[in-house]
Amino acid sequence: MPPPERRRPTSRPLAGPHNRDQKRPFARPAPRDASAESAHASRAPRPIEKPVLMVQPTTLWDYPSQHYERFLDDAGTLRTTRAARTARAFAQQGSQAYEGATPSWVVWQCVRRYTRPGQTVVDPMCGGGTTIDVCADLDRQCIGLDLAPSRPDIRQGDARKIPLPNNSADFVFIDPPYSTHINYSDDPRCIGRLDAAGEDQGRAYYDAMRQVIAETSRVLRPGCAMGLFVSDSWRRTQRAKRDVFMPIGFELYARLLERFDPIDIIVVARQSAKIEKGNWRMAAEEQNFYLRGFNYLFLMRKPGPDQPETEAASVPAPAPITPRPDPRGPRPPRPQSPRRP
Ligand SMILES: C[S@@+](CC[C@H](N)C(=O)[O-])C[C@H]1O[C@@H](n2cnc3c(N)ncnc32)[C@H](O)[C@@H]1O
Repeated sequence: MPPPERRRPTSRPLAGPHNRDQKRPFARPAPRDASAESAHASRAPRPIEKPVLMVQPTTLWDYPSQHYERFLDDAGTLRTTRAARTARAFAQQGSQAYEGATPSWVVWQCVRRYTRPGQTVVDPMCGGGTTIDVCADLDRQCIGLDLAPSRPDIRQGDARKIPLPNNSADFVFIDPPYSTHINYSDDPRCIGRLDAAGEDQGRAYYDAMRQVIAETSRVLRPGCAMGLFVSDSWRRTQRAKRDVFMPIGFELYARLLERFDPIDIIVVARQSAKIEKGNWRMAAEEQNFYLRGFNYLFLMRKPGPDQPETEAASVPAPAPITPRPDPRGPRPPRPQSPRRP
């Protein structure tokens, strides 16, 4: 659906920071002496300071950018990404220009928690190469595959038939097409050509994804984890004049449970430029639909012996709480209330 025209400015403040780093910096350091800044300096582009990326401790994940620049590695050492060390205009993992790119910090959270340096991560729908770049930052091996490789280090392959041996991956990350919302390639095997709300009730889409899940299970070592990053979808069909909601998250989760044990479900806040545009917000309110505000990240484990995880190894357990002595001295015992007969 094309964005409706802006008729009046929205009265509500726009929520949240942007993911389009170049357009609106979100965490610009305050000038030490604003009055001393020359007019020229205030017009010049200033460096964007992104928060240092660390392990997210809750099931609600949020980070004010699609990409990261500095992070704490497995040993707790502050490191700068490879991309930020090179002369690129701004640091990114994968490609900002790749439509449908995964926020790299989401991949980072998974790789950091569920693998150790040197282990092998597989992304069978690698798109713009985000997982490959994150693994390079974190010193993991990565095998990236895609039906339509966008760069030379991505191998050509169908995620329904992953060209890897059984039990060869320590972690698998997948961000699949969410029905037909993006045209990834003309390859007839592209799962993004299968409509999750088609006349077949989405059977072809969900059957294809069931095959991808089965292949993921086959290549993963027993006891290892995988992450599936996905969003529900919604569209208004003009012809049938009806709204179609596609609960892709719940549908894929049901298929994941056929092969995996659940670790947890993460809600990832979407930093989408569309959500913040006043005309989209106004249309959502006036036409009574919702803009998608989050993605699911389903974290699952292939049944088998548990693998020791990086997180458990490097994050010190909280110190036991020892009660401090009461400066007023020991308290007298409380009088017992008389028991009712
Ligand atoms: C959401 S994008 C992945 C984005 C990627 N994680 C990134 O950050 O750039 C989905 C990808 O799935 C790929 N794809 C679709 N059907 C496929 C299939 N059958 N086998 C392998 N890749 C497929 C598309 O070409 C597209 O690159």
